[in-house]
Amino acid sequence: MDTYILGLESSCDETSAAVIKNGKEVLSNIISSQIEVHKKFGGVVPEVASRKHLENILIVVDEALAKAGIKKEQLTGIGVTNRPGLIGALLVGITGAKALSYSLGIPLIPVHHLRGHIYANTLERSLDDFPYLCLIISGGHTSLAIWHNHESIEVIGQTLDDAAGEVFDKVARALGLGYPGGPVIEMLALEGNSEAISFPVAQLGKESFDFSFSGLKSSVLNYLNQQAMKGLKVNKSDVAASFQRAVFKALEEKIFLGVIQYGIKTVVLAGGVVANETMIAYLERRGQKEGVSFVYPGSILCTDNGAMIGAAAYYLNELGVQADYTLNAFPTAIIE
Ligand code: KG4
Ligand code: ZN
Repeated sequence: MDTYILGLESSCDETSAAVIKNGKEVLSNIISSQIEVHKKFGGVVPEVASRKHLENILIVVDEALAKAGIKKEQLTGIGVTNRPGLIGALLVGITGAKALSYSLGIPLIPVHHLRGHIYANTLERSLDDFPYLCLIISGGHTSLAIWHNHESIEVIGQTLDDAAGEVFDKVARALGLGYPGGPVIEMLALEGNSEAISFPVAQLGKESFDFSFSGLKSSVLNYLNQQAMKGLKVNKSDVAASFQRAVFKALEEKIFLGVIQYGIKTVVLAGGVVANETMIAYLERRGQKEGVSFVYPGSILCTDNGAMIGAAAYYLNELGVQADYTLNAFPTAIIE
């Protein structure tokens, strides 16, 4: 029998619903982004995000079903992000998922948001040659993990302070570039010199798989303040290119440390920052030299979306992972 999983995502500033057929085929992936709403605040305002999710959740579900060309009665399961994320935002998706699951009598499958990001990769290719080294880089997370199999994803390192996407957003704000910062910094950096300014890459030791980006962020902010105090003009393209390069170096160092230590030759990338094509080119250059290949989703599947949640839910459901109606939202949670 064919399976049709509805994937719901509402952990941050995207309300999204998708229908996934047999765990592979994306029949629809409707994403309602709140970026325009949060732009004027320079970042996501949790209370505003919850209200917007509430306005949009039923609309995206209806659209996802219509685009998929199926009736809700044909759904065989509901996957929903229940952690980590903004608590009010998560609760909107969870409540909608519970209502649908109860009224249709189909499984409610809780999905860890980071697992969702990783599983976005399964929608575009077959990934069954485990284990993989995974780097998840988004606005809220920077984690390095060993993806052992569908049951187990083992986190071996994470950021001790800011997430990679978060520093892109904060540096962009300091440069007066608006929100979200990643895409605009990447664009600006294309015209800049990545060696113009020397920004530090945190040294956490050869044994550690953790990351730290707050020192880099402070260093960029100090540089901007010093230039302003001296009355000197800032070349924003050079700052963007030099800052971005420092982030890439930090990621590169830990990825290749993991590759050597765990003897894994395929690296799976996931999360919003993976939309950065300059970073992909940078990492692939090193990968080519060392016989390491990178796997990553297309840009729509990199940033938050329901399809990645539906994909992860499909495999969890196969393993028998289901929740009852006491399912709750959690703001933070390490991936299991
Ligand atoms: O995965 P995502 O959509 O949401 C979270 O789960 O956080 O990631 C959003 C993050 C934002 O911080 C955004 O600035 C960053 O991904 N991002 C990028 C690029 N596109 C989005 N960062 C660097 N370069 C990009 N091209
Ligand atoms: Zn995300």
